[in-house]
Amino acid sequence: MGNLKRRTFFKLGLASAALAVFKPSRASQLIEDSTRVTPPKPVVISTWKHGLAANENAWKVLQAGGKAIDAVEKGVRTTEADMSNRSVGIGGRPDRYGHVTLDACIMDEKSKCGAVAYLEGFMHPITIARTVMEKTPHVMLAGDGAADFALDYGFKKVKSPLKEVKKEWKEWKKAHTEKFDKPEINSENHDTIGMLAIDADGNLSGACTTSGWGYKLPGRIGDSPIIGAGLFVDNEIGAACATGLGEAVIRIAGSHTVVELMRNGHSPEDACRLAVERIIAKHDDLSGLQVGFLALNKNGEYGGYSVYNGFNFALTTPNQNELIDAKSNRNW
Ligand code: GLY
Repeated sequence: MGNLKRRTFFKLGLASAALAVFKPSRASQLIEDSTRVTPPKPVVISTWKHGLAANENAWKVLQAGGKAIDAVEKGVRTTEADMSNRSVGIGGRPDRYGHVTLDACIMDEKSKCGAVAYLEGFMHPITIARTVMEKTPHVMLAGDGAADFALDYGFKKVKSPLKEVKKEWKEWKKAHTEKFDKPEINSENHDTIGMLAIDADGNLSGACTTSGWGYKLPGRIGDSPIIGAGLFVDNEIGAACATGLGEAVIRIAGSHTVVELMRNGHSPEDACRLAVERIIAKHDDLSGLQVGFLALNKNGEYGGYSVYNGFNFALTTPNQNELIDAKSNRNW
């Protein structure tokens, strides 16, 4: 275990020890009990190392007293605009035919939500998802319909894929002739950014955006735009998001499961662990099956857990700004 890992486990260990003072059996107790140690708000957490830069921008909103929904949108836009990132935004890996297709969703404290799926050629799918949420009676738009909607609302088409992405794809094509690929673990292949925040008013929101499984079958949609799978927010209880192999997350309605486990009194980390164990129980073949969950509850307590080691998340609070190694079920 490296120094960073040891240090972050240690910090997390201290926090968990403090939180273990009170173990509620019901969500209402969890929210109201005054003996439970509550971290200062606001809090923002997001998946993977790219979450550090995203949190920085989300924090600007939260620190100024802004709303969690604005913070998570602004935060993940950072990653969408990062052209060096191969798993989020138009710099992401394309499908087998060279098309970069994007999935995103967003959810606020009133359970309002919006999503886009299989969207091609736009810089900020998360903002289009928010526009679906705010301007239509629908939750999700996909493909050409989503693109037409975006154009109607003034979003500009951008060229995709980038020269580098195309070059990588051509090389990949030469080396891969089989019909499907096995998923890869921690390889910037499903490394979605999922972000959860609680603002100074105690309201929760979340956002999730990805280019999905690199070199996927055309038409494939992962967990990231699916409310309840890649993201779920219940402002009375908490919020959760997922990263990794979207198919496995969808099979257990992952983020909704994590929130329901918190509703039943589990801490955020424990809720993520139990959801991971459910995924493990439902799959015979775990090779290449990496999934990581993040959760944040109404008290601002947070946690993460993954199938395999290697998953980390960025945490920002008034006292902390760091990358934390999530606990995991097994080593790969
Ligand atoms: N979790 C992202 C995906 O599988 O598409």
